[in-house]
Amino acid sequence: AGVVVGVDIGGTKVLAGAVAEDGTVVRTATRTTPGRRVVTQQVEDALVAAVLAAAEGEPLAGVGVAAAGFVDSAGERVMFAPHLPWQGQPLRDLLVARLGCPVGLDNDANCAARAEAHHGAARGAASALMITMGTGIGGAVLLDGRVVRGANGMAGEFGHMQVVPDGQACECGRRGCWEQYSSGNALVRSARGLMAEQPSVLLEMSGGRPEAVTGPMVTAAAEGGDLVARRAFTSIGDWLGVGVANLVAALDPEVVVIGGGVSAAGDRLLEPARAALRRTLVGAAHRRVPPLVAAELGPGAGMIGAARLVRDAQVLR
Ligand code: BGC
Ligand code: NA
Ligand code: ZN
Repeated sequence: AGVVVGVDIGGTKVLAGAVAEDGTVVRTATRTTPGRRVVTQQVEDALVAAVLAAAEGEPLAGVGVAAAGFVDSAGERVMFAPHLPWQGQPLRDLLVARLGCPVGLDNDANCAARAEAHHGAARGAASALMITMGTGIGGAVLLDGRVVRGANGMAGEFGHMQVVPDGQACECGRRGCWEQYSSGNALVRSARGLMAEQPSVLLEMSGGRPEAVTGPMVTAAAEGGDLVARRAFTSIGDWLGVGVANLVAALDPEVVVIGGGVSAAGDRLLEPARAALRRTLVGAAHRRVPPLVAAELGPGAGMIGAARLVRDAQVLR
């Protein structure tokens, strides 16, 4: 016996947690993601450091990894990751060697969906869509509680659906991706643009440097009533609803669950999204529009789902 740790690695942050069988998070640890232009080993170092900190000296029974990228069907490699340097590295085996315990690996949003299906807002739903709003947009399709993987293991990459022809450049190398209009990065870009047009507390918060504005700053400013920050949330919320309407047209899910760090803003994000969903969904007057709800497990869903993944594989030490 020992502890099971789930770890979620995104574009800005590594979040690890010791997770109990029932999904309860016992202890967490965070590290900063070293960035996109580093050698992959630096990212692995941050991952290992966060896992060991969360384990706090207890032996590891297993580790589940939720990675912000395209994971192959076998759950062995991160083939491509717009916000991270991995390109086909055998991450699972590298971590098995470094941690000395079984390791499970899946896409971060897939992990979040698994957690919400077991312990959260998608429990009991025959079909559900999961959208995670972090540095980018992650996605997953749940059918009868199971994540749809697709032919390459890469189903659910909603963040890179093109919503604006020839639009904003995306870290995936293409243009006009949905996550450029609705994500943590989009929130910050929108706030910076608006700051140039009207006064905002963000100017003071960032020490007079718009380029120093961060997502959590915009969230705090919006909380305090700042109009620029509030408009930035309305903008990414509106884009969220437009994208969700397209996904609902394609998949007709029972419920749509929104998670990820940005979703901590709650209704400030979800209300404009709900309005845009009702406004843009085809046949909205002739169907039940699915509820758009916040992830019950909050921004920790990916980490909890990663722990679930390695438990379900029944390989624990
Ligand atoms: C990546 C996804 C990931 C998402 C959220 C996207 O840019 O392509 O694989 O799930 O960001 O982290
Ligand atoms: Na996914
Ligand atoms: Zn993209």
